[in-house]
Formats: sequence, C-alpha cells, structure tokens
Amino acid sequence: MSVQNETRRLTAPDILARKGGEPIVCLTSYHAHTAAVVDKHCDVILVGDSLGMVMHGLETTVPVTLDMMILQGHAVMRGSRRALVVVDMPFGSYEASKEQAFMNAARVLKETGCGAIKVEGGKRMAETIAFLVERGVPVMGHVGLTPQSINTIGSFRAQGREESDWGRIEADTIAVAEAGAFSVVIEAVAEPLARKLTSAVPIPTIGIGASAACDGQILVMEDMLGLSPRVPKFVKRYGELAAGIEKAVADYAADVRKRAFPGPEHVYPMKKKP
Ligand code: KIV
Repeated sequence: MSVQNETRRLTAPDILARKGGEPIVCLTSYHAHTAAVVDKHCDVILVGDSLGMVMHGLETTVPVTLDMMILQGHAVMRGSRRALVVVDMPFGSYEASKEQAFMNAARVLKETGCGAIKVEGGKRMAETIAFLVERGVPVMGHVGLTPQSINTIGSFRAQGREESDWGRIEADTIAVAEAGAFSVVIEAVAEPLARKLTSAVPIPTIGIGASAACDGQILVMEDMLGLSPRVPKFVKRYGELAAGIEKAVADYAADVRKRAFPGPEHVYPMKKKP
C-alpha cells in the first residue's frame, strides 16, 4: 500500500473565509523554483503582470501579453503545492467585454491550472467580475492605484491623497465586493482610507503600500529581496540579493580568468587503465 502525503491547495473560498482573521500572506512569483520557496510561507502566490518590469525590464505592465502570463503561471503551478495561485489578467485581455474576459480567463484557468485570476478596476469592472464569478472563475479585484491605467493616470502616485477622492475609491471597493470577488488588492492608499475600505467590505483587503489596516499584504518578491533596480518607497527590504549576486558573479569571473574551474575528474575520479 502506498502512503501519499497530499497537501491540499488553498482555494478562493479559503481566502475569503480569512476576512478579519489571521493576516493573509501574499507574495508574487513568476518561476517554479521561487514559487517552491514562497509556497512554504505564503497563502497566496500572485503571478503578477509586474513580471513585465521585473523579468523583462519593461517600463510599464501595458505590453505584457496573455501568453506571457500563461507561461509563467504554469511554471508557478509546477513549483507550488499549497498556496492559492492567482494569475493577473494583462492589459487588453479583459476590458473590451465580459465575454472577452471570460474567454481569456478560461484559457488562464485551463492552461495553467491556477485557482483564480486578478483584474484591475472598480465600478467599471463590476459587471465583468459578476459575469466571471457566475461562470466559475474566482476573481481577485484590484483598486486604488491600478498600474495598467498608467497612460491615463500619468504616474504611479499614491491614491486618495485628497479626502475628496475617498468616496470614489470606496465605491470601487464596494462594487468589486458586491460583484462577487473573493478578495481585493488595494494599492498605494494611506492608512485611514485603507482602514475605511477594509471595514466597508466583507471580503479580505490585500494591501500593497496600503498599511497594516488591511487583511493581508502583498509585495513584489524581487522588490523586497533587493533585486529590483527601482523600488517603491513603502517596501521594507528583507534581503540585498542584487549585491550578493554581483559578488558571486565577480568571484566566478575571477576564477574563470585564473582558469580555476574544475573538470569532471574532481567529482568522478578517472579510472586508470588496467
Ligand atoms: O502585478 C503585480 O505584481 C501586482 C501586485 C503589485 C499587486 O498586481
């Protein structure tokens, strides 16, 4: 008889049930091997369209394609076992109509095996979110700063700086929750507004640069590891990997230049002829 140690993967309803409870730990990942590490400590792994900037050196997330998201989503699913994997819908893949959103979201779920998708936008996306959820697609919303709108908003500045903007952001958050999203990312809003939004909705709020008033937090992993060249000011650094990698590469280059690189005989002693 074989005994299998099966790990049950978290689902969108599991995350929804965490509203107001133990903080929800979320991080981005785009690769199988980093996903395996993140999976040991996080509840949600987001395959964010930030991969356009982090992996491809793009200036914004706008050029990211659905195929890029599916490729990396599949890698993250292969690397992880327990966390809920959420894949971002990239710009242009869901805004034209709710039917377009469903066709593309269904492709993401089928081809990656992930458990949910994320879309940016509040009130304007509510009808689409309801359409997706009714048809079996778990949706994470994303309000506040929505980076895919960079060409209309003009900069990645914090949102809700004027109290007069709070009502709009609150209406967006409530619309996403009422449409059936199981959680909502709140990006770049200050603590008093984050607190107001968190108490206004029955779904978990996941902050990024949105204070400890949220039900959980997400960061871009490369930002908090010190790997990204430009990092938002609110990001706490948990590592300085760029410096570590640079040192390792410099040591390697020096070894190669000295011809200090071993052949296979160091690992597998060569057999002498009898
Ligand atoms: O793409 C991304 O990584 C995101 C997070 C910043 C929330 O959307």
